[in-house]
Amino acid sequence: MPASTAARLLDSGRVPALDRGLDVDAAVERIAASGLRGRGGAGFALADKLRAVRTNAAGSETYVVANAYDADPDSPLARTLLERSAELVVRGIELAMVITGASHAFLYLHPAATGARSAAESALAGRDDIEIALGPGGFMGGEESALLNVLESKRAMARQRPPYPALQGYRMRPTLVSSAETLSWLPLVLDGATAETKLVSVTGAVRKPGVYEVELGTTLGAILDRAGGASAELKAIHVGGPTGGILAAARRSTKLDYEDLKAAGTHLGSGQVRALGTDVCMVREAGRLFAYLAKESCAICVPCRVGTKRVQGILDGVSSSLGRDTDLPWLTELGDHMEQFSLCGFGITAPSILRTTLREFPDDYRAHISEGRCPTGTCTTLRARRYETMAQP
Ligand SMILES: Cc1cc2nc3c(=O)[nH]c(=O)nc-3n(C[C@H](O)[C@H](O)[C@H](O)COP(=O)(O)O)c2cc1C
Ligand code: SF4
Repeated sequence: MPASTAARLLDSGRVPALDRGLDVDAAVERIAASGLRGRGGAGFALADKLRAVRTNAAGSETYVVANAYDADPDSPLARTLLERSAELVVRGIELAMVITGASHAFLYLHPAATGARSAAESALAGRDDIEIALGPGGFMGGEESALLNVLESKRAMARQRPPYPALQGYRMRPTLVSSAETLSWLPLVLDGATAETKLVSVTGAVRKPGVYEVELGTTLGAILDRAGGASAELKAIHVGGPTGGILAAARRSTKLDYEDLKAAGTHLGSGQVRALGTDVCMVREAGRLFAYLAKESCAICVPCRVGTKRVQGILDGVSSSLGRDTDLPWLTELGDHMEQFSLCGFGITAPSILRTTLREFPDDYRAHISEGRCPTGTCTTLRARRYETMAQP
């Protein structure tokens, strides 16, 4: 008989027992029917990944990786989940192993996540089929192909895809890489629940910042209200972490779900929802984010390695009031190029910062370029010269 459909991940207290005699095909069909989509950012259907690993296994070794890395330092979702529901995460990994036929799994953590690591160690006491592995610490350490390299003692650089991990992952064997949050839904979904919530980290100008579990489809405004409401006059809501888009406060009715966020020009990404007050200049904010991305890029592909640096340089020039009108189409073109030609989700999604700030906050750009002033009076000079390394449109 199906359990309550109002399942929660945090503090649910409900960890269904492991059924080793599970009818695997029926289980995959049930997961497909539940519509469970990846919580790690891209929203890929879990059932499709499970099917792919099973098909590609052809009777030999497969692996499961539970991505609990929390690449975005301001969005400690997997850490919170492990600290509060470690047994649910472990049960999810066990079920993924049964379904894919894997005899070994990794629970992949950030080195700074000491509390989560202790909780995981207690939940895994006495077993050696699920191994705790630590990533390198940078933002790219959470990207699925880079983390496979890390597990193989290589640098955290992305791999060319295809082949996807479900065909050639850890040690070139079929590997399921899923976020710990997605896998935690497995036991609950197979017990009759539907996966209706998402963990989010609410940060910035709110009264009660922290990790919250909200229904998918909750509006951004209601999420900020859950965190005590804005603590300053709200200018913008930044959704998805360092590569996510920044929406004007007027878009507080945008829903936190895969489609609505995409239509608004952003994505779930790291699950961070950040409130920005009217004292934030969006040109400077975009430049600050691109400075972080330029530092964190794994640098293996040119569109991202060069693109993040160029965009940062141009944005710093604009915020230093050295900008020209021609900088704006140039930024758009660089963003389009990054999105089209980058090797991994990092470079593909980063331009959403540009697209959304140019669309939602044209006055911030205009004040700097046309009037030589910062609209919030907060920008300081970052560059003495324009960033020009080649002919610009
Ligand atoms: C730069 C970057 C960092 C990422 N960091 C994480 C992370 O910390 N945790 C995570 O689950 N997914 C992260 N992802 C997404 C993973 O590549 C992968 O899509 C995800 O783990 C798959 O799980 P899911 O199908 O359950 O969403 C990151 C992606 C990128 C591009
Ligand atoms: S997009 Fe950036 S992070 Fe991703 S592979 Fe290319 S250089 Fe590395």
